[in-house]
Amino acid sequence: KQIFLLNGPNLNLLGKREPDTYGRTCLEDVVQLVEQTAKEYGYEIAHYQSNHEGDLVDYIQEAQDKAEGIVINPAAYTHTSVAIRDAISAIELPVIEVHISNVHRREPFRHESLSAPVCDGQIVGFGVDGYRLATLGLIEKIKEGRR
Ligand code: DQA
Repeated sequence: KQIFLLNGPNLNLLGKREPDTYGRTCLEDVVQLVEQTAKEYGYEIAHYQSNHEGDLVDYIQEAQDKAEGIVINPAAYTHTSVAIRDAISAIELPVIEVHISNVHRREPFRHESLSAPVCDGQIVGFGVDGYRLATLGLIEKIKEGRR
């Protein structure tokens, strides 16, 4: 049983990048946190990070055959990418969107998510612990059956 964990642009810099906004935990530790959480429910994690929009589209498509659900932080593409939104729409798996920071307390351009309306849930503003919460939420959605 597999869950895809997808991280978008600049999240490879997590821990070093704007620590006041995103904290000091690195991406590797986030992946471990998600792996531990998922393992308790018998799921394995396949993690991919990319700075490229098309890669993320490819991973979302790939998930259809390889995973039971997706936890995704599309990062800046959240606010701009019709392609990522359409990819999420195209698959028939539960998808939970995560944002580390509380995007609603930040610049107005971060208030809109093109992808959130086609996701099954969104976790915002809990720091990197949001990934754990999203994973638990996703596992519930998977149990409930298709979205
Ligand atoms: C982010 C919020 C986005 O607005 C930003 O572009 C990111 C990270 C978050 O996790 O808080 O890169 O998705």
